[in-house]
Amino acid sequence: MAVLELKNVTYTYKSATTPAVKNASCEFEAGKLYAVVGPSGSGKSTLLSMMAGLDLATEGEIIFGGESLAKLDLDCYRRESIAMIFQAFQLFPLLTILENVCYPMELCGVSPVDAKPRAEKLLESVGITKEQMKRFPSKLSGGEQQRVAIARSLAAGAKTILADEPTGNLDVANTENVMEILKKLAHDEGYLVIVVTHDLEVAQMADVKFEMRDGVMTEKI
Ligand SMILES: Nc1ncnc2c1ncn2[C@@H]1O[C@H](COP(=O)(O)OP(=O)(O)OP(=O)(O)O)[C@@H](O)[C@H]1O
Ligand SMILES: [Mg+2]
Repeated sequence: MAVLELKNVTYTYKSATTPAVKNASCEFEAGKLYAVVGPSGSGKSTLLSMMAGLDLATEGEIIFGGESLAKLDLDCYRRESIAMIFQAFQLFPLLTILENVCYPMELCGVSPVDAKPRAEKLLESVGITKEQMKRFPSKLSGGEQQRVAIARSLAAGAKTILADEPTGNLDVANTENVMEILKKLAHDEGYLVIVVTHDLEVAQMADVKFEMRDGVMTEKI
């Protein structure tokens, strides 16, 4: 069964005359890495923000685990079901790497004593060392910061990862590294991973590719 499903989803910004996303329909399954590729302004981030429950579709329906997002508590959905990753890693600058990953768990009520070992495990799984965990984000490379952001996004236990240009600030080697981590999470641990990108090479690494053009989404064979 699909984890996330779009049924004739359209989104029109209040100030706009034409929709940013037009009648999109597709299904996303667990265990797969998906890419939505398209040029700037084609509607990728708009689509992602609806799937993340940040904006409700103007028309049509988004279904998560069999339930329409329009009927779910969206704060709870965002907190517990969705892991988001952005181009600008958005780590908290005044928290150490370890604290950055503990923070979302503590927000969900996990005690600091339990949060710490889980955060260490998540960080180790993305190749961050114990020594790096004590540093502040500005003392890590871009690739390392993005790996921390991935670990942090997973901390609350969500199994659906939505990534908006996650490799946009990275060089080729780090891009491949981050995509490999996302692919492993999908294939080995059963996450649903959806990456939006303008980079065709990034899209090539996905199991399933969709193309976005002027708000219209089509599957690329
Ligand atoms: N808040 C807004 N109000 C009105 N129009 C918007 C708003 N945000 C985005 N748009 C418009 O919606 C369209 C799709 O934007 P969106 O940000 O989804 O594109 P994108 O594919 O993510 O582009 P990029 O690759 O540059 O991030 C664009 O024409 C954009 O100008
Ligand atoms: Mg965008």
